Amino acid sequence: MANLSIKYLGAEFKNPTVLASGVTGVTAATWRSVVNSGAGGITTKSIWLNEHKGHKNPTIITTEHWMMNAVGLPDAGLEKAQQEIDEYNKTKPAPLIASVAGGTMDEFVAIAEKMKDLPIDILEINISCPNVEGEFGLPFACVAKDARKVVEEVKKVSGKKPVIVKLSPNVTDIKEIANACAEGGVDGFCLINTLGPGLYINIETRIPVLANKVGGISGPAIKPLAVKMVHDVYKATKLPIIGTGGITTGRDAIEIMMAGATLVGIGSAVYYRGLDVFRKVANEMNEWCDLNGVKDLSEIIGTVKM
Ligand SMILES: Cc1cc2nc3c(=O)[nH]c(=O)nc-3n(C[C@H](O)[C@H](O)[C@H](O)COP(=O)(O)O)c2cc1C
Repeated sequence: MANLSIKYLGAEFKNPTVLASGVTGVTAATWRSVVNSGAGGITTKSIWLNEHKGHKNPTIITTEHWMMNAVGLPDAGLEKAQQEIDEYNKTKPAPLIASVAGGTMDEFVAIAEKMKDLPIDILEINISCPNVEGEFGLPFACVAKDARKVVEEVKKVSGKKPVIVKLSPNVTDIKEIANACAEGGVDGFCLINTLGPGLYINIETRIPVLANKVGGISGPAIKPLAVKMVHDVYKATKLPIIGTGGITTGRDAIEIMMAGATLVGIGSAVYYRGLDVFRKVANEMNEWCDLNGVKDLSEIIGTVKM
């Protein structure tokens, strides 16, 4: 059996699989059941300072190759999230990454400041959601100087908490954005957020299926893009990465780690393989390691021969 445990920004993960932000419930009980299903760590749904209403239903379409969602980052706000974080912390079974969202720079700074004293391991700033674009304009993750500024401002108020930034694939040059965040002092990255937005039309009614009309694309179809972008960011910055986007099997997880990821985010695959996808992926990674003589997963990070 290989050693699957991984240290990421000071936190110990029993295996590299991490629940991606937003894909299951928002309570301590759900986070615990995800850990019981084999996850090495948890990312919360993006938390807003105050309640944020999402989009109307239908908000999700699932097909064999991809999912599309326009949930619109609904959230009950920090006060409620704080109760759940405190509850989870009572018997914390695995590291907790708190994802936070904001419409403006000031909102990101305000929530980051409040997060600094909470029992979370890492702060993830979600500056990349494509389906709240209509509400707030282009995400900060799509403009290098904005990405750098938000990181700089958040770092000033986040105390000792490591700060990672969630990057968008909807950019021409992801290296430019990643380098800007690195200059701003970011400690690591999570990428990719959903791709798009995309449009899916019911051709009988000629009406878009999602109530929001367009939505962010995730799932197996986006994996090759995620793997390439993780590699680009790894080479450009050498900062530790949570590689996310279409990871569904142990082989996918090994692949994105070879591209440069230290941890592996799993979101849509919960719909494709059930909640115990985390255990399945970790077991499959173990089998691959045994077959390939890998004793410790850290041996494979960034080892793709390009
Ligand atoms: C239903 C749904 C809700 C999501 N909500 C969030 C969110 O609140 N914050 C965030 O940073 N990403 C959110 N995402 C993006 C995922 O965390 C992930 O980056 C993306 O789906 C790609 O990974 P996957 O293919 O494994 O799903 C959401 C994705 C889905 C499918």
